[in-house]
Formats: sequence, structure tokens, C-alpha cells
Amino acid sequence: MSRKLSASSALYDNARRALAGGVSSDARRMAGVPLYVERAAGSRLWDVDGNTYLDYVLGQGPAILGHCPPEIVAAISAQAARGIVYSAQHATEVAVAERLISMVPSAERVRFNTVGSEAVHAALRLARGVTGRTKILKFEGHYHGWFDPVLYSVHPALEAAGPADAPLPVSGTAGQQRGDQDLVVAPWNDLEALGRLLDDQVAAVITEPVLCNTGAILPDPGFLEGVRELCDRNGSLLIFDEIITGFRLAPGGAQEHLGITPDLSVFGKAMAGGMQVSALAGRAEIMDHISDGRVAHAGTFNSHPVAMAAADAALRVLDEQREEVYGGLYRRGRALMDGFAEAARKAGVPLLVDGPGPVFQTYFTDGQVRDYRDFAATDRARMLRLHAALLERGVNMVPRGLWFLSAAHTDDDVADTVAAFADALASLD
Ligand SMILES: Cc1ncc(COP(=O)(O)O)c(C=O)c1O
Repeated sequence: MSRKLSASSALYDNARRALAGGVSSDARRMAGVPLYVERAAGSRLWDVDGNTYLDYVLGQGPAILGHCPPEIVAAISAQAARGIVYSAQHATEVAVAERLISMVPSAERVRFNTVGSEAVHAALRLARGVTGRTKILKFEGHYHGWFDPVLYSVHPALEAAGPADAPLPVSGTAGQQRGDQDLVVAPWNDLEALGRLLDDQVAAVITEPVLCNTGAILPDPGFLEGVRELCDRNGSLLIFDEIITGFRLAPGGAQEHLGITPDLSVFGKAMAGGMQVSALAGRAEIMDHISDGRVAHAGTFNSHPVAMAAADAALRVLDEQREEVYGGLYRRGRALMDGFAEAARKAGVPLLVDGPGPVFQTYFTDGQVRDYRDFAATDRARMLRLHAALLERGVNMVPRGLWFLSAAHTDDDVADTVAAFADALASLD
């Protein structure tokens, strides 16, 4: 089986001469020719060679209503005709902030940015400004964007990563400004280690509430409750990085789904259904440090009118059609997960399928995955081969084995995907 890729290959040849590495984000590098998308609609992508894909990447998560949902397309067009950029206040930013506050349990005040990395940056600065402390505690395997202070220990080489119960901060790139003196790295799902590693210089603990950058790992029962309690006892703020989980696991994000209230949260991806918006939200008394200018926060494109129009349309649908949207995401997510697990059982392949449902992960392992070290022990090279085999069969997952669902995926899509998955699995040696 081999797709026709002549037009894609020709573009890639040119791209490698024009774009560093042939792509615009390191996350889009892949073995072989990357996807050159011509158009997208609903649950599908079409590439420049005319191949069709059922899409479970969804722009790395944002397209929660599928590609080109009519409500968002109409809102973007209408706003663009009234003005693309103002760098001034407008009614839509107020409406989006009000809706976000009504949907997200911990949100009392909001500030908008453009991308997730910026919102994380704002959250960490605010936490340091409010507490007067310098350190941040992050968990091994968690990704909080590509800015220097947090690009540590995302997927570190195990030789450099130190002991599992007291991981060393491992830099993520050449050229990184040193931040390890202000960073504590802890293993996830390990309260005992967290209690040991937290000290009175830690301004904030930042966590993905469901770890979606190293699999799709739910917190162990009681873990996040314990983190909340330890933060309170230590005077550290708790920041939920809900860039992936926000508006995906529930209208109020993982904090609603899991029933834990952070002090600050950051949102992005799904909140504008595919346009670039991020948000920092939190308790009023904390956000007041931004309100009165003690902590700086800025950005030319913040509350960009076209992106805000998309956020307004996306949040309206997610809020007003919540039963239908989230019911469908969980039901179809479960059907895919069960279908994949059954296909693997029949094929005698050790495959773990785990995660909340609206996002989930496939791993080649016969064990459990509770943290980064477990994830590192899975057969990741084989997952990349499965990714290639799925593309050949018209299914696009995130290469590391992550699957995002949208409200546009249908029961027929699920059935077709399970059949393609079984066939792809059987094709692997
Ligand atoms: C949990 C999490 N935080 C932050 C980011 C950074 O967001 P962005 O790529 O929009 O800067 C990402 C991106 O994937 C993410 O998954």
C-alpha cells in the first residue's frame, strides 16, 4: 500500500530549501513526507495529492467542533469585514471573558493572549509577583510551551534525568537561557515525592491536570486533591495548564471534570475552535496584581477581534449545546478506545489504550503508564510506525499515539477508523 504523494514530495523538496527543516514547527517534523493539506472540513483533511484522512490531530487539539464549523466561519467572516485588528477594546472580548468566567469554576478575572506559551509565561510571572518567591515546580513529562523557563524535562533522555523520585531538570534545547536554578522537577502521580520537593521558595506548582503531552494520563485518585492541599500548606499557588484539557474534557475544563479548583489556569487550543487565542484566568485577588499594574502583561494581538469572534462562537456552541457535544465526545471516544483495544487483543498485540475519551492515547506496552518514566518504557518507535501505517489507510493521529476527538466525528467515522486501525496493526512486523 502506498499513497500517491508526488505533489506533497515536490512541495517538501521546495520547503526544505525555504523553511528551516522544511516545516514551521518542530512538532510537525516527521519521518517521510509531512502532510500538505489542501483543505479541511468536518472530521476530514484532503492533501494536495487528493488523499483523504480522518483527522484525529485537529490542529493539535483546537478543532473541537471539527474543521470549518459554520458558526465559527460565519463569525470570522463577519468580524473580518468590520475590522481585522484594533489593538483596542471591543464588546466581543468582554462577552468572551464573561462566558469563560461563567463556564470555568476557578475563573473570576481573565486576560487574553495569542498562544498557550504566552499564557503560561503570564501565569508564572503573576505567581512570582504575587508570592514574592522565585521557584516554580513542574512535573517531569509535562509540556508548558516552548519558552525557556519551562522547556525542561519534557521528554528527557533517561541517562540525564536522575532518579525517578527526584528528577533533575533537563534542558530542552541548545541556546536556552538557564532556568534550572529556579525550577524544581517532580515525578507526577507521586504525592510523597512532591511533599519532599516543595520548599518555601516555590511560588507555584504547575501541572497539566490530565497529562496529555506524555500519553493521556489521568491523575491517580486523590493525587490532585493532595497537590491542592500541599500547595495550600506551603503557600504556593496551584496553576492548571488547561491548554489541552480546557473546553475539551468539560465546558469548565479538567477542573470541572475532576472537581479540583486551581488558583490560576491557562487555556488555549479548543477555546476558539481553531483560531489562535489563549487565556489566563484566576481568582480576582490574584489577578488584581495585573489589574493594578504591579505585574506586567501585554501583547499587540491580545483579544484580536477575529480570533475573539471565533472564541465567542466556539464557546457559545460548547456552552449552549453541552449535552450533545460532550456526550458525543465521550461516547465516540469510548467506542474508539474499546475498538482499538479489541483489535489489539485479537491480533495478540500488547496495546494499552487509556485516557479520558475526548482525548486518549495508544501505547505499545503490556504495563501501566502513570508517569513519564512508564511512558519512556513503551515502544515509541513502533508507535511511529503505526502512525505511518495509519496515514496509508487514511487516518491521521498525532504521531506519538495521541488521539483528539471532535464533535464532527460520526459513528461511521469511528467504525471506519477501528477497521483501519486493525488493518494497520496487522501490517506491523
Ligand atoms: C499543555 C500545554 N501547554 C502549553 C502549550 C503551548 O501552547 P502553544 O503551542 O499554543 O504555545 C501546549 C501546546 O501544545 C500544551 O499542550
